[in-house]
Amino acid sequence: MADEKTLLVTGGCGFIGSNFIHYILAQYPNYRIINLDKLTYCGNLDNLCAVVQQPNFTFVKGDIADRATVMGILHDEGVDCIVNFAAESHVDRSIEEPDLFLRTNILGTQVLLDGARETHVPLFIQISTDEVYGSLGPTGEFTETTPLKPNSPYSASKTAADLIVRAYIKTYGIDAIVTRCSNNYGPYQFPEKLLPLMISNAMEDRELPIYGDGLNVRDWIYVEDHCQAIDVIMHRGKSGETYNIGGASERTNLEVVRTILEVLGKPESLIRFVKDRPGHDRRYAMDFSKLKKELGWEPKVTFEEGIQKTVTWYVEHQDWWQRIKTGEYMEYYERMYGSRE
Ligand code: NAD
Ligand code: DAU
Repeated sequence: MADEKTLLVTGGCGFIGSNFIHYILAQYPNYRIINLDKLTYCGNLDNLCAVVQQPNFTFVKGDIADRATVMGILHDEGVDCIVNFAAESHVDRSIEEPDLFLRTNILGTQVLLDGARETHVPLFIQISTDEVYGSLGPTGEFTETTPLKPNSPYSASKTAADLIVRAYIKTYGIDAIVTRCSNNYGPYQFPEKLLPLMISNAMEDRELPIYGDGLNVRDWIYVEDHCQAIDVIMHRGKSGETYNIGGASERTNLEVVRTILEVLGKPESLIRFVKDRPGHDRRYAMDFSKLKKELGWEPKVTFEEGIQKTVTWYVEHQDWWQRIKTGEYMEYYERMYGSRE
C-alpha cells in the first residue's frame, strides 16, 4: 500500500484492535484510521486516549451489523482496507448467550463484506482465530488446511464468518484475507480473560480460578507480534489466502498461572481448581510456517519477556483495570456517549 491510506478498523476499542491502532499510527503516521466500535461491555475508549485527539483518527460509535452505519462510512470515506476485529470474543459468555455471538460475528461480518463489495474496497482482512480448528491431542499442530471443527458457540460463529469470507471471495471476487491467530496477551486485555484476570486477582490477593485440571494448553503470543503479523499480511499478503499466526509458546494454564505468581511474588495457595468449562478445548498449537516462508514473519517476543512486560503493565495501570472491575468505566462512557446499547 502507498504512503497515505485509510483503514476502517472495527472493534478498535477492544484489546487487540486498540493495540493495532496504536501500532499502525506509530508505524504509518500518514495513515488515517476510522474506528467503528459498538462499545459493548469490553469496548473501552480509555484504550485509545493517547490517539483520540489525533487528526488522522476518527471514532464512530456503531454496530458492524447495522447496514446503514457501515454503508455510510464506506460510501463517504474512500476506505482502502477493512480490518475486522469486531466480535463477541469470550468463550464462556458464548456458552451463556450464543445469540449475540451469531449476530455480531456472522451477520456483522456479512454486512461488512457487502459494504466492501458495494464500494469496491481493495482489501478486507478478517481477524479469525485458531479455535476454528477445534482441539488437538498431545501432538501435532494446526495448519491452514486442517479441517474446521469448532467446539464452542464462539468458535462456531468465527468459523461461519471465515466461510462467508471465502464465499464472497469465490462468488463475488472480492479481495480478502483471513488470519487465524493463537491466544494473545498484553496491555488492554479485558480482565475476564485468563492472563489479566489472574494478574489482577493475584494483585488483590483474590483466588485464581483454574478450570478442570489446569492442563489445557494454549499457544501464547504477545499482542504486538500479532499486530506486526497483520501489518505484514495487509501490505504483502496474497488476496484469497488464509494465514496462521502463532507465538511458538505452548504452555498449560497451570504453568501460565504459576509464572504470573512467581513474577508478582505471590503464593501458589491463591490457586483454586474449579468446575471445568463445558466443551473445553484441550490443546491448541499453530504451524505458522506459511507466514514465515512466504512473508518472512515470525514472533519476536518470548513468553518470558512477554509475561514480564504484561505483568509490569497491569501493575502500572491499576486504575485501568480497577475502573473495569468496579464497573465505573461503563458509567463514564454513558455520561460521554449516552447508552452503550
Ligand atoms: P475484545 O472482546 O477485547 O474486543 C472486541 C471489540 O469489538 C470491543 O471493542 C467491542 O466493543 C467491539 N464490538 C463487539 N461487537 C461489536 C459490534 N457488533 N459492532 C462493532 N463493534 C463491536 O476482543 P479481542 O480479544 O480484542 O479480539 C479481537 C478479534 O480478534 C476478535 O475477532 C477475536 O475473535 C480475534 N482473536 C482474538 C484472540 C485473543 O486471544 N484475544 C486470538 C485470535 C483472534
Ligand atoms: O485461541 C484464541 C482465542 O483465545 C480467541 O479466539 C478468543 O477470543 C480468546 O478469548 C481466547 O480464548 P480462550 O478460551 O483460549 O481464552 P481464555 O482467556 O478465556 O482462557 C484461556 C484458558 O484458560 C482456557 O483453557 C480456559 C482457562 N481459564 C480461563 C479463565 C477465564 C481458566 O482456567 N480460568 C479462567 O478463569
